[in-house]
Amino acid sequence: MDEGLHTIVAHDQVDTKHYGAVTIPIYQNSLFAFEDHESFDHAMKDVLAATVYSRGNNPTVQYLERKIAELESAEQARCFASGMAAIAGSLHALLRSGDHVICVDQAYGPTRQFLDELSNRYRVEVTYVDGCLLSDFEAAMRPNTRLIYLESPTSGLFQLQDLEGVAALAKRTSALTMIDGSWATPCFQRPLAWGIDLVLHSMTKYFSGHSDCLGGVVAGRADLIDEIANKGYMLLGGVMTSHTASLMIRGLRTLPLRMERHHRNGLIVAEYLEKHPLVNRVNHPGLPSHPQHALARKQLDGYGSLFSFETQVPVALLKKWADALRYFRIGVSWGGFESLVTVGSTPAGRNSTGNNPSVARLYIGLEDPQTLIDDIEQAFREIGQKTS
Ligand SMILES: Cc1ncc(COP(=O)(O)O)c(C=O)c1O
Repeated sequence: MDEGLHTIVAHDQVDTKHYGAVTIPIYQNSLFAFEDHESFDHAMKDVLAATVYSRGNNPTVQYLERKIAELESAEQARCFASGMAAIAGSLHALLRSGDHVICVDQAYGPTRQFLDELSNRYRVEVTYVDGCLLSDFEAAMRPNTRLIYLESPTSGLFQLQDLEGVAALAKRTSALTMIDGSWATPCFQRPLAWGIDLVLHSMTKYFSGHSDCLGGVVAGRADLIDEIANKGYMLLGGVMTSHTASLMIRGLRTLPLRMERHHRNGLIVAEYLEKHPLVNRVNHPGLPSHPQHALARKQLDGYGSLFSFETQVPVALLKKWADALRYFRIGVSWGGFESLVTVGSTPAGRNSTGNNPSVARLYIGLEDPQTLIDDIEQAFREIGQKTS
């Protein structure tokens, strides 16, 4: 990780406007009043920049947006009420009827659902591709391709896309590229440096880090962020509140520190599982056994701690195993301090062995990794499975 990121999140100039307060106050107000009508008229001419109404700009939220833009080396960023608000708002703003979108088929489910809605209602054409090979995108390109939507790694099978290759391909036809980078955060992946136009995150995950608030952000070129702000932020209204921004700023202060530990903890547990007799395969891009490990090493500086493993233990029994875990909670989402587990079936045709449907998705939190390994062992014993 670039050590400079620790400084970005920790350092501010002395804020003389707020009596030297070391953290930005919460501006809890919906509107901002003006001394005279002339200055009001002036502000209304540029509502994207001016502080007029909090469903536009709010100083606490703007502080957070500037910090994220700096972390992403982006010209601008916009924070939304949730990751989905950032995704839906951005897609809504950038796509028109008749446009074609290429999206990775393992993208977050509601993202796909939103694209399908755009397709059914507004004649936006969508092609889903596997995305592991650059040729998947080349083959799907059309003259009306407006956007290539990536999620790298994906959050079920942890497949990667070649960011540099896809960005170069899109630039040949002026298509835009957008990536959901929630898994890696700017600590471990800087998509704009590879030529991707827009990066978005569910801030509910690692940015918040404490499982206590929802948020989303999109960052990139100023003209694109302005277009999104105009047509997908102000009009749809899914904005971040100043209270949430304050919680996110608190989370941001320790994001690089926490990511270092998540990286380490996740790898320790993944490496242990890879040697486990009940495990067929571990889907973690940081393991040399991952089919795209070389690409992972090229475009990631570290690894998120969400991964999955496949096993011959039947799904029903694997759910009993999850019940027997003491340090992993059963639940969706990830990115907080606490370890999590969900059990399901590998999507059809996607499992490594061809006949094994059981998969567990683990999120490794900030606990002692040996405690988590011991817990996994005791839970396998509890369901009567031999572990050696
Ligand atoms: C990869 C990914 N992207 C986006 C989202 C949506 O974020 P939010 O729940 O903040 O709307 C999620 C939520 O689980 C996710 O896992």
